[in-house]
Amino acid sequence: MTIYRSIFRTDLFQNQTILVTGGGTGIGRAIAHELASLGANVIIASRKTEPLEQTMKEIQSAGGKCAMYTVNIRNEEAINAMFDEMLSDHETIHGLVNNAGGQFPSPAENINQKGWHAVIETNLTGTFLMSKTAYNRALRQNKGSIVNIVAEMWNGFPGMVHTGAARAGVANMTKTLAVEWAKDGVRVNSVAPGVIHGHGITQYDPAFIKSYVKMASADIPAKRLGTESEIASAVTYLLSPAAAYVTGETLKVDGGSSLWRKTWQIDDHTNSDKFDGFEP
Ligand code: ADE
Repeated sequence: MTIYRSIFRTDLFQNQTILVTGGGTGIGRAIAHELASLGANVIIASRKTEPLEQTMKEIQSAGGKCAMYTVNIRNEEAINAMFDEMLSDHETIHGLVNNAGGQFPSPAENINQKGWHAVIETNLTGTFLMSKTAYNRALRQNKGSIVNIVAEMWNGFPGMVHTGAARAGVANMTKTLAVEWAKDGVRVNSVAPGVIHGHGITQYDPAFIKSYVKMASADIPAKRLGTESEIASAVTYLLSPAAAYVTGETLKVDGGSSLWRKTWQIDDHTNSDKFDGFEP
């Protein structure tokens, strides 16, 4: 008799400590719930205390293990201070999910240097600093896995040029770190969510949400937005031993939208100058 057991067994992450940044809300909260439900000792970290406390309580009252720390991932000193505290409370970490991020919709021409830097520093620099610190202070000693949450930026990101550039940077960094850290048994992957119906989208202006959601779901082969849990499942796979031979990869979880989608309305215009060498 052949016995096959799913890798997503309920004790999959027993005795594993996994740090999830931005774990208080949205996709990060779903990831924290998913990992805790599989036995992980989940640590959630973010800048804001209140959502962390709320999610920690939810997980603990469901019988899960959860701790929380506040940190600004743009600041290397603050990250090191958080690791000091975390590693005195917990022996080590075995996984890191770089989910914390932030951006704001704006036509490119209206983004000033401050706004540009803020988005690059949170999404690109913050992810790098957290990865580097987790590697140096834990993962290189005991092996482990990093998963970055990026975005659907394969055709650029009209309307949010800063986050498109930052997330594309993270997808590239994923490949570099995967190669550099393979010698220590550290895997690095990313998940690229499509349009997710969850907390993240509610942060935007209602008029923007309405037009964006309508346009996006019409053009998604699955004809619906994704769920936060669908992202959490992909993260679980990449963190788990089922993905032991997967590194440097960015997994799209987007209902096929990156293959068939228009996200930017261009009104009819006559501004495209033409070159024709045969014209007089
Ligand atoms: N979530 C959004 N921005 C963040 C930051 N700078 N640090 C930690 N969590 C965040």
